[in-house]
This record gives sequence, structure tokens and C-alpha cells, in this order.
Amino acid sequence: MTRSSYQVRPCKNIKEVLETHYKWAIDQQWDSGKDGNDIKQVLYPIHPSSFLVGTIQEEEEKENKEEKILASICAIQYDDNNGFLAWYIVGEATERKKGYGLQIFNQGLENLSTSSWIGLNAVAEQVHNYKNSGFVVHGDITRYNGKNNNNHLLTPTTEAVNIAESPQLLDQLVDRDHHTIGMRRPTFIGHWVQYHSTYGWGLALKDKENKVVGFGCMRPLESGLYRIGPLFADSLDYAQDLVTRLMAKVPPGAEYTTDAWMTTPETKELFEDRLGWSPLVTFHRMWRKGTNINKNNEQVPCPYESPAIKNGYYSVVSVEVG
Ligand SMILES: CC(C)(COP(=O)(O)OP(=O)(O)OC[C@H]1O[C@@H](n2cnc3c(N)ncnc32)[C@H](O)[C@@H]1OP(=O)(O)O)[C@@H](O)C(=O)NCCC(=O)NCCS
Repeated sequence: MTRSSYQVRPCKNIKEVLETHYKWAIDQQWDSGKDGNDIKQVLYPIHPSSFLVGTIQEEEEKENKEEKILASICAIQYDDNNGFLAWYIVGEATERKKGYGLQIFNQGLENLSTSSWIGLNAVAEQVHNYKNSGFVVHGDITRYNGKNNNNHLLTPTTEAVNIAESPQLLDQLVDRDHHTIGMRRPTFIGHWVQYHSTYGWGLALKDKENKVVGFGCMRPLESGLYRIGPLFADSLDYAQDLVTRLMAKVPPGAEYTTDAWMTTPETKELFEDRLGWSPLVTFHRMWRKGTNINKNNEQVPCPYESPAIKNGYYSVVSVEVG
């Protein structure tokens, strides 16, 4: 068997994405959304050319070439020109450490080179590699799992509205996502809200004055757990009530998970002390500059030290894409 040179190309269709990015992520136990619906309903429709695969041609005899897909990455550019890398995987363990990963990673970076900033969420083992590629850690994300411990509402005068049925709130949700995480991505948030109308639940919390004081979504996973993300709220009590209201959408006994933004001082208090959930694993948000830096975007989108970002940021929208 001979192998011809390695090539990186966009996926041909959603089927190919599900057979590579989605399947390999499940093998890694990443589990971003049941049936790959986060990819099918949100990410692929708005960013089809972002899903890349690394391939070689295998040849037993001349004229009998077969393409083998070895590696995946997703290199998304959001509306504001910030980029994000995800699903960086060499599918088969036996194909790792042969240079296939780094090549597709570099192609992903190249595709995003005209971004302002390029971000990713790193597993701990890969942080040193990403540092070698110019990335710097700017935040920590801890995955918490737990159950509903019969919480009562702390702010009973608030009202939760279904965001998919409240199109007039969309601009506010886009603004909140922007001011919380530092990237502006109306197309993504619009699709994320719609996705949760059929494949999950999305709530905006309003106070007595009808002001939106929080925003949260929850989706089922392949494992049977329910993942909460995002969780943005103006106070710890509002955040807790959003979690309580989301958990009430599914039968008692369910298990929940969330990817919590640990730079917010109250996050640990919410998930560990109040809800009694357990920390499982920590990821690291890393950023590097692209070429499109000017005086308006010279600060990293989501730095450790920004108070605007510390306040109200409890859980990330998706650990895959920020
Ligand atoms: C991470 C992964 C994709 C790397 O792929 P790989 O094919 O094994 O890596 P390569 O053989 O291309 O690595 C070649 C070299 O580049 C380094 N490298 C790999 N990715 C790199 C990156 N993004 N930036 C800089 N260096 C990198 C490697 O450490 C290696 O260095 P060495 O020769 O000094 O040992 C692969 O190990 C994998 O699929 N792991 C499981 C999924 C995972 O954890 N993905 C990352 C999530 S954040």
C-alpha cells in the first residue's frame, strides 16, 4: 500500500462532517449536542466551508486509488471577523504523531489569518502545543455535572420567556453575547436561538420592569445528559433561577452539565456551593492575533482582567466554538 501526499479540503457535505468531526468528537467523549444537531442546525448551515478534513490517497495498485480521511478541524470566522478553531482531531489513534494534525491545524490558522483574533478552547494536554503556535491562555472553563436538588426560585417576581417565540429580544441577546464574550456574532446567535426552539430550550429572564436580566439555553446530549449553555445573568440569583427554570423543562432525575466560565468570581459558588454539582475537567481559552488588528480591536476579545466580561458570564455557549 502506498500513500500519496496529504491534502486539506473543505467537507463535501453535512454527511461527511457527521462522519468525521461529529463522530470523532463523540469518540473523544466531547458530546456537543445530540445527533450532531448543533452542527446540523447551526454551524454547518452558516459556515459550511469552515469544516475541513485532511486526506491522503491510498493505492494498492495503480489506478485503484482510494481517499482516506485522517483529520478534522473547523475554522469559523464570525461576523465581526474574529475566528475560532474547533474539532481539531486526528480520527484514528494509529494515525496520530505522523504530522497530519499540525498540517490541518496550520491550514485552519491560514484560513483565519485575516481575522482580528483567533480563539480556541484547549484541553490541558494541548496547551503547550498551542503556545508554540502563538496562542496565550486568557480564561479557564470547568465542566460541571450534577442533578436538580429541588431548588426553589430565589427571584419569583422574574418571568422566563421562550426566546424562540420572542424575536423582538434577538438584538438584546446578540448584544449580551457580544458584551459578555467579546465577539459579535448575530448570525450564530440567531441560529442558536432557533436550534433551541426545536432541539432544546432557550429562556430570557425578565425582571418586574420587563428588563432582560439573563439568558440561558439547554440542549440534550448523546450521553443522555442535558447541557446548559450559555448562562449569562446580571446576578448570581438570576443565574441560579435560570438554571432552575431550565432544569424544570425535563423530567426529574435527569443529569445536567455545563461548561462554566471560571473567571467570573461567582461561578464556582453557583455550581459547587449552591447547586452541588461536581467539577470534571478544565479547558483553557486561548487567543492569538490575526492580521486584522487595529486600534479598535487591539485588546483580546475576552481577557481574564475585563470586568465587563467577569460580570454575568457563568457558562459558555459551546465549548467547541466559544
Ligand atoms: C491533537 C492532535 C490532533 C494532534 O495530531 P497529531 O497528528 O498527533 O500531531 P502531529 O503528529 O501533527 O504533531 C507533530 C508535532 O507538532 C506538534 N503539534 C501538534 N499540534 C500542534 C499545534 N496545534 N500547534 C503547535 N504544535 C503542534 C506536536 O506536539 C508534534 O511535536 P513533536 O514532533 O515535537 O512531538 C491528536 O493528538 C488528536 O487527535 N488528539 C485527540 C483530540 C484532541 O485532543 N484534540 C485537541 C483538542 S484541544
